[in-house]
Amino acid sequence: MVLSRMIHTNILRTLIASCFLQGVAFGVNVIENSNLADGTNGWYPLGNCTLSVKTGSPHIMPPMARDSLGPHELLSGRYILVTNRTQTWMGPAQTITDKLKLFVTYQVSAWVRLGSGSSGPQNVNVALGVDNQWVNGGQTEVSDQRWHEIGGSFRIEKQPSKVMVYVQGPASGVDLMVAGLQIFPVDRHARFKYLKSQTDKIRKRDVTLKFSGLDASNYSKTSVQVRQIQNNFPVGTCISRMNIDNEDFVDFFVKHFNWAVFGNELKWYWTEPQQGNFNYKDADDLLNLCQKNKIETRGHCIFWEVDGTVQQWIKALNKTDLMAAVQNRLNGLLTRYKGKFNHYDVNNEMLHGSFYQDRLGKDIRANMFKTANQLDPAATLFVNDYHVEDGCDTRSCPEKYIEHILDLQEQGSPVGGIGIQGHIDSPVGPIVCSSLDKLGILGLPIWFTELDVSSTNEYVRADDLEVMLREAMAHPAVEGLMLWGFWELFMSRDNSHLVNAEGEINEAGKRFLALKQEWLSHSHGNVDQQGQYNFRGFHGTYKVDIVIDTKKVSKTFVLDKGDSPMVVSIDF
Ligand SMILES: *[C@@H]1O[C@H](CO)[C@@H](O)[C@H](O)[C@H]1NC(C)=O
Ligand SMILES: *[C@@H]1O[C@H](CO)[C@@H](O)[C@H](O)[C@H]1NC(C)=O
Ligand SMILES: *[C@@H]1O[C@H](CO)[C@@H](O)[C@H](O)[C@H]1NC(C)=O
Ligand SMILES: *[C@@H]1O[C@H](CO)[C@@H](O)[C@H](O)[C@H]1NC(C)=O
Repeated sequence: MVLSRMIHTNILRTLIASCFLQGVAFGVNVIENSNLADGTNGWYPLGNCTLSVKTGSPHIMPPMARDSLGPHELLSGRYILVTNRTQTWMGPAQTITDKLKLFVTYQVSAWVRLGSGSSGPQNVNVALGVDNQWVNGGQTEVSDQRWHEIGGSFRIEKQPSKVMVYVQGPASGVDLMVAGLQIFPVDRHARFKYLKSQTDKIRKRDVTLKFSGLDASNYSKTSVQVRQIQNNFPVGTCISRMNIDNEDFVDFFVKHFNWAVFGNELKWYWTEPQQGNFNYKDADDLLNLCQKNKIETRGHCIFWEVDGTVQQWIKALNKTDLMAAVQNRLNGLLTRYKGKFNHYDVNNEMLHGSFYQDRLGKDIRANMFKTANQLDPAATLFVNDYHVEDGCDTRSCPEKYIEHILDLQEQGSPVGGIGIQGHIDSPVGPIVCSSLDKLGILGLPIWFTELDVSSTNEYVRADDLEVMLREAMAHPAVEGLMLWGFWELFMSRDNSHLVNAEGEINEAGKRFLALKQEWLSHSHGNVDQQGQYNFRGFHGTYKVDIVIDTKKVSKTFVLDKGDSPMVVSIDF
């Protein structure tokens, strides 16, 4: 009975998975009278605010939607003016229940602006009321008298009885202007071809194998077989002390990842749960496993700015003692592990918390960076934060992150890298890419440090993962990515695993492995008339086998980044 029900569920799941995108009208806006040609028809005010139609808004499509839609019509230049707002949630609304399909990823786009009544920055948000739940469809901070792009995405995985979209956020009394609101199913695969060609440009290099000791008459019968053993782009995962007692976990981990980060074992609350009571054993065990398998490591994290994550004994300290404790933490950790961790997240989530800054003053943040750098100069020091890349959090949007990093640098912090955690919902390529482009102007390496995606449907989860991995690989500012785990039961997020508890690789896991295969370059052919063999391949480690008659020569080499072709001499 139980077994047959299980089989039934699996068949059902596969059916759903193969059907959910059939007949979806990608790019078609579900908003009625979006261009306002027909007054406010189709719209209603949420609450007792007043809606009217005006002209003078942009005709161009907001960039993130433009990148998803390709060729499209211009916007009408008409917008909805919302006045008499007496609550933050008041704004223009539509009910769209019947227009949405389950498991389809919808992109949200609009121009928004503040009218009269504003003094200072206001949050504007496209909200989905899904039954009684609020779903974030994008959020932006608007401060000045110009139009701002708002963009986001959402997906519904359980049949709702009512879905309403509305634009809200500014304080009571502030007029709101909304133009060109679009909600459309996005074809996330459509972008992959472009991403592949970008990836080939930045992650590959030309190679010339030059043969010597080989008679020219033999060139054409000399066969060359090139196999890439490893791509050296950092692809890592989070691991925990408990995981590494599981042999199957360890097998998968060492086979498919070249970087690691520890879930909690390096955090202060783990290494010093009570003052003076140290526990480095778990971190040591994890580090040993990594070193034994030539897996590089990120140190996460020295401090964590968010109040709720700070252990009790630290909270109880007065300012003098807290300052001393911070110094001890830095000395203790970075002296013990000097040269061992390639990266450190110095003070996690500074855009979402301010425990140390509130207690110790603004300088403390820069001092943490400076001291860490003195104690372990070889380590790259990162900032690390969440909801940077998804358009849904005004506290940590790229603009705020840039300001924050510049501010740290101005105070002398040696910031060496930008961490984007990547706990993302229903990712859409152009939204993620837009954030990477913005952050890219700082010229610092960007890493996805805690990537996970979640869907109850493994095929959709696989698509989410593919979107993120391809965007990362295709973007020149991104220099590495870390998953926040892969094994069911050891994930911090539901419906995000790649391998189930019994060790079976699911659809998301299969997609991950297929991409890893795609990012290995293999090639074969004969030596040309110049005594050379040319190919283009991903950066990483290669093995070449050269065979002529019964004679065989092999060579291993590493293809590093570089603009000019790499020449490898092979003496036959
Ligand atoms: C809207 O309702 C509020 C009470 O919820 C009231 O104070 C306000 O005057 C109303 N505004 C309009 C324009 O009716
Ligand atoms: C709504 O606001 C406008 C000005 O924006 C004002 O003229 C009008 O009287 C208000 N209406 C109500 C019902 O309060
Ligand atoms: C190349 O071919 C010649 C005969 O054409 C042969 O004598 C020689 O051994 C070959 N060289 C190699 C490296 O196999
Ligand atoms: C801070 O607390 C310690 C004891 O925990 C005490 O000795 C010290 O005088 C206190 N410092 C200040 C400035 O209150």
